[in-house]
Amino acid sequence: MKLINLSTPEGFAPTLQDQHQRRFTYLRLSVTEACNFRCAYCLPNGYCPNGQARKELTLGEIEALTRAFAANGTRKIRITGGEPTLRKDLAEIIRICKQTTGIEQVALTSNGYRIDKQLAEFRAAGLDALNLSADSLQAPRFKMITGHDKLAAVMRGLDQAAELGFERIKLNTVLLREHSLQELPQFMALVKQRNISLRFIELMETGLQQSYFDAQHLSGKVIEEQLLNEGWQRLPRAPHAGPAVEYAHPDYVGRIGLIMPYSKNFCTDCNRLRVSSSGQLHLCLFADQGIDLRPALNQENPDALHAYLRAVVNGKQTGHRLNQRDSGAIQHLAMIGG
Ligand code: 5AD
Ligand code: SF4
Repeated sequence: MKLINLSTPEGFAPTLQDQHQRRFTYLRLSVTEACNFRCAYCLPNGYCPNGQARKELTLGEIEALTRAFAANGTRKIRITGGEPTLRKDLAEIIRICKQTTGIEQVALTSNGYRIDKQLAEFRAAGLDALNLSADSLQAPRFKMITGHDKLAAVMRGLDQAAELGFERIKLNTVLLREHSLQELPQFMALVKQRNISLRFIELMETGLQQSYFDAQHLSGKVIEEQLLNEGWQRLPRAPHAGPAVEYAHPDYVGRIGLIMPYSKNFCTDCNRLRVSSSGQLHLCLFADQGIDLRPALNQENPDALHAYLRAVVNGKQTGHRLNQRDSGAIQHLAMIGG
């Protein structure tokens, strides 16, 4: 009898891998670096396209790129930005990703400002999972942090995602010293009632917000200790999952995930690669530079891109240097998505 290995369908190359035996099955694809929010830790003065902003990948380029990654073991694609919904052709991008042979899951990260008007279309295009963000559950504070009075829209987005049958709904909250602990009871009440995974993300230092980082960074350990004291149980990591450590509790419908990039061994299980909206491959969020995939992407013969991908991914560095206060080339996360 002939055995078929499902993780490497016949005719496909082996999964992209580096010298630390990490396998990359998860691609974060940024489709625009533009954003309409002004989050205090990311784009406090709003997005301003500078002269260096490079042209966004076209649908044809996204299709070729997705095919090449899928043929090299990518199984999950998360579409990020900036704010991906600013692209008018987002539903088409979702469809292209979902229809690519080998891709099992397509997820979207959005700030949610008008997601309730678009989600049904995205679902019909094949979207499997949704991440929205709320750094506060109090409308005035939400507005203060993001520059927009859109908490209600985010909450409607969560409702609608549940109505549309999304199984994986996540809500990101960046931990901020000034705000998060005060609101912890509200966040816990939300998770008690809603089938969502609430992600507490430790603030990461980037080039443009060093003083904000110094004032606001709060370790996720504070939350972790509280969860363990209150009987929350750590869950096993799901296939192709990101770096969050997830917890569940019998009295709560939802879950809580902690993303602690400053903790030891954060990079050990890394399974993700990133491509910027202009086709730069970032082997790490905090790499010193991106690697331009466009020349290989636009060649007739897809084998050139396959070989190039395998060669460059092999050289991925062990981990980031955030603990030495080195955030590489990244100025803010809108550049290539969080
Ligand atoms: N540190 C941690 N999280 C960040 N995000 C944006 N910038 C940072 C940062 N410097 C988050 C956003 C969003 C997700 C995509 O990334 O708030 O939830
Ligand atoms: Fe926009 Fe996200 Fe940056 Fe906020 S964190 S400004 S929503 S890219």
